[in-house]
Amino acid sequence: MILREISLRNFRNYLKLNLRFDNRLNIIIGSNGVGKSNLLESIYILGFGRSPWATLNRDVINFNENWSTITGHAKDRNIEVKVKFLSNGHKKAEVNNKTVKSLSELLGLFTETLIGHEEINLVRGAPSYRRKLMDMHISQIDPEYVQCLNKYNKAVTARNKILEKLKGDGVVGGKVLLESWNDILVQNGAYIIRKRKAFLDKVEKQCKEFFSFLSNEPEKLDIEYSPSFEYSSVEAIEEDYHKKLNEKYSRELRYSNTFYGPHRDDLTITLDSRSMRRFGSWGQSRAASISILLASAQLLEDFYNCKPILLLDDCFTDLDEIRSRRLFELAPQIGQTFISSPKPLSFTQNTDGFTYKIHPSGVVERMQ
Ligand SMILES: Nc1ncnc2c1ncn2[C@@H]1O[C@H](COP(=O)(O)OP(=O)(O)O)[C@@H](O)[C@H]1O
Ligand SMILES: [Mg+2]
Repeated sequence: MILREISLRNFRNYLKLNLRFDNRLNIIIGSNGVGKSNLLESIYILGFGRSPWATLNRDVINFNENWSTITGHAKDRNIEVKVKFLSNGHKKAEVNNKTVKSLSELLGLFTETLIGHEEINLVRGAPSYRRKLMDMHISQIDPEYVQCLNKYNKAVTARNKILEKLKGDGVVGGKVLLESWNDILVQNGAYIIRKRKAFLDKVEKQCKEFFSFLSNEPEKLDIEYSPSFEYSSVEAIEEDYHKKLNEKYSRELRYSNTFYGPHRDDLTITLDSRSMRRFGSWGQSRAASISILLASAQLLEDFYNCKPILLLDDCFTDLDEIRSRRLFELAPQIGQTFISSPKPLSFTQNTDGFTYKIHPSGVVERMQ
């Protein structure tokens, strides 16, 4: 869906703001701290019902107010989405003036992908960033995945508590106590592993193409799924997982920790067969992170049958001129694009689309 108009009330530094957007490309320029990321955050919230950053709900409400709303109108379908935040931390959403039961009902209306500063962690950061990418993406297209993930995470916590207790009490034969949790772990864990693997198989080809387009060099990017235990085939995941848990019982008991399963998965990202995390430059890592996210965005289009919205928050830093130009060319082909930058970008002059400048006073001016 294309976001035609947004209206903010008491959101962050915006007391009242109404903006219209271009179908293809929207550039937002302004000095540090004027509210560029805040504006992209508000668009993100229309798609996900929550902020992309780990903020408390009430933090998005303007400092001097006690409620806030974000309203977005779609261009291609007659849809209005409204998200309201209250000072007690509650929030609610409406679609065409009808309150939704759960904010997850917003998923799939404005399908969005945010590419900001933190996203470089996809390549450079801890494995949890790569798991989060897979979880976020698959959750948008598979509600069962969300349920499995919740059950799985609960099982890991419960299991660790039992392991701790068994270790303390020195219970002989305590393995039996773990069995029902092992079943939950394996059943849900196997589902998660299969879905992650399928996601990666789909995303990898597109990601390689985007990366070689962006970098314009013959470097070869590869992404491989690295599960925490080896399985002989996709069909045998359950059996091999159970086997692993049995085999490693003493080790898990010693450390009171669950070592095997999707919460320990990772992705191995390599450039010309060398670990990108260890040897890649910042620019290469950023180009790879962006390619993975663009490829995931493209998958959303296949699923929802409508183009995604891309939020590129200050993401040209670290990219050289060629990569920047190419990203600028590529993104609007994938979906409606919003770009924020503290400086005017030389290559954006005379392009179609809207350019807004946010002044330090908070006034937003249409430049182009
Ligand atoms: N709840 C809020 N109410 C009012 N202002 C806020 C609120 N939250 C953040 N801000 C202000 O927003 C500014 C940061 O905006 P941001 O969009 O991150 O800037 P940038 O343009 O650099 O991306 C800061 O000046 C901060 O004080
Ligand atoms: Mg910013």
